[in-house]
Amino acid sequence: MINFLKVSVFSLLMVGAFWGFSNFGIPQIKPADPPGEAKIDLSNMTMEKFIALGADLFENKGDCALCHTGRRAPKLNKVAANADKAMKDPAYKGTAKTVEEYLRESMLKPSLYVVPGFGKKGTNDTESPMPDIMGAKVGFNEIEVLAAIAYIQDLSGSEITVQIPKPGAAPKAPEASKAGDCKK
Ligand code: HEC
Repeated sequence: MINFLKVSVFSLLMVGAFWGFSNFGIPQIKPADPPGEAKIDLSNMTMEKFIALGADLFENKGDCALCHTGRRAPKLNKVAANADKAMKDPAYKGTAKTVEEYLRESMLKPSLYVVPGFGKKGTNDTESPMPDIMGAKVGFNEIEVLAAIAYIQDLSGSEITVQIPKPGAAPKAPEASKAGDCKK
């Protein structure tokens, strides 16, 4: 009887250990949202929720946090204040007039202005390693771009000028969609 109990307790412990291992030990891999297909509910959207959406995109879908730690890419907590300086820099090749336009331009055409010291190696800060966030790699749609801008404006303590899009406004497909690449 004692042996039977010992075996039972042992089995229970083993089962428990495996259960625990399979639930917590192995990282759960969840498939990434296909670009442009994430459904965003704009009907009760508040600016607070829109900024939180931007923060989530920054950490997850956009993988922005991977680079923007301050070493590989600048931290973005002062970018709004820096934008005014950047737009007056002789090296600036863009057309933005406002912080919001500057942020959009920085993320869609990153090489128009490269933050000094952060260019691709050997390009003398003329080419940015930053991906076009509507391109196939990141795949943000228009709503997601706006949410990212709102998040960065909030993060950098700047005035939030982004307008939350109206419900029903169809998200534009990313410009460089994956399908486009195959047809060429
Ligand atoms: C592969 C690394 C990498 C990833 C991923 C990345 N960035 Fe960047 N980003 C950079 C680098 C390097 C710069 C600085 C060079 C430049 O000015 O383009 C930059 C610049 C920027 C700037 C302009 C900063 C300034 O002061 O002008 C913004 C805004 C920005 N990134 C936002 C984002 C967002 C949002 C994402 C995610 C969707 C993202 N980045 C993903 C590397 C990256």
